[in-house]
Amino acid sequence: MKPVDLRSDTVTLPTPAMREAMYRAEVGDDVFGEDPTMNRLQEMAAQRLGKDASLFVTSGTMGNLVALLTHCGRGDGAIMGDMSHTLLNEAGGSSALGGVYLRAVPTEPDGTIDPMLIEAAIPSEDVHHPRMKLVCLENTHNYCGGTALDVSYTAAVADLAHRHGLFLHLDGARIFNAALVQGIAASDLVAPADSIMFCLSKGLSAPVGSLLCGSAEFIERAHRVRKMVGGGMRQAGVLAAAGIVALEQMVDRLQEDHENGRVLAEGIAQIPGLHIDPAQVQTNLVWFDFVDERSNTQRFVESLRDRGVLMLALGPSRLRAVTHYGIERGDIARTLQVMREVMAA
Ligand SMILES: Cc1ncc(COP(=O)(O)O)c(C=O)c1O
Repeated sequence: MKPVDLRSDTVTLPTPAMREAMYRAEVGDDVFGEDPTMNRLQEMAAQRLGKDASLFVTSGTMGNLVALLTHCGRGDGAIMGDMSHTLLNEAGGSSALGGVYLRAVPTEPDGTIDPMLIEAAIPSEDVHHPRMKLVCLENTHNYCGGTALDVSYTAAVADLAHRHGLFLHLDGARIFNAALVQGIAASDLVAPADSIMFCLSKGLSAPVGSLLCGSAEFIERAHRVRKMVGGGMRQAGVLAAAGIVALEQMVDRLQEDHENGRVLAEGIAQIPGLHIDPAQVQTNLVWFDFVDERSNTQRFVESLRDRGVLMLALGPSRLRAVTHYGIERGDIARTLQVMREVMAA
């Protein structure tokens, strides 16, 4: 039987429509700006996000890296949450490659950062202090359980940043999940931000790629940075073709992942020894804990795997399961059954 793979929404396979579009894609040299399919995707993405322009990058990590290196020079600072993906899981790229100083501030359980803490992290103009250039938010917030930030919070942080002469960048790897769960257009949700990165390769199921969106001037500068980090791709229209299908056909479908996430969370809440607050599960990321912190999450995950269910242990007592394209309601029922058996054993 095929395993139920809930490790991440990045395991999604391209749809038949994507493979067909990739096969038929009209291509050119994108480093020369001559790939018509890539140009079309970049225009579509900018329009969907309500920004002037966008730039295709290989991954979410590259999108955030290019954004940070475009906003910040060496020694400049970026303020971000201490649980943010950019801080924890992107190999410290902006510091290693661009000398960007990362200032981490505490993240609230809902993925927000207290604006007072952001303001306190912006130092006065003084030779002792690094020059802060950027504030980063993450929406939805991965480590906070896929929680969505709302537009009024985003606008408040943008106002605060702008008042101090800083820019706001959004790591919107799953921005369409955030928009969908709030019943708001993604363009409205990200309107306050100066730049936004979103991924095609997660719940939208494209095989490769993310887009960095912003003003025409910002994207022009980002283009040079992308080239510098080796992200200039040639006949990239084969990838863009799948991205176009992702934007046209896979956005509204994310709703199914949210419903499956809710059913999974409600089921986990009934399993003795596991803890989750289903009300906290808004989108497709289902984080839960062992009640007994001494439990061995790695052993639990291995026992699940032996029974055909894959999840990730992401901390001594924390686990994550992610719903996505290809996971049906029956897979959720099977997962819950296996989890009950393993916990009872
Ligand atoms: C919130 C967030 N940002 C950025 C990324 C990085 O994306 P990629 O794996 O495409 O580099 C991820 C990946 O899971 C993520 O969850």
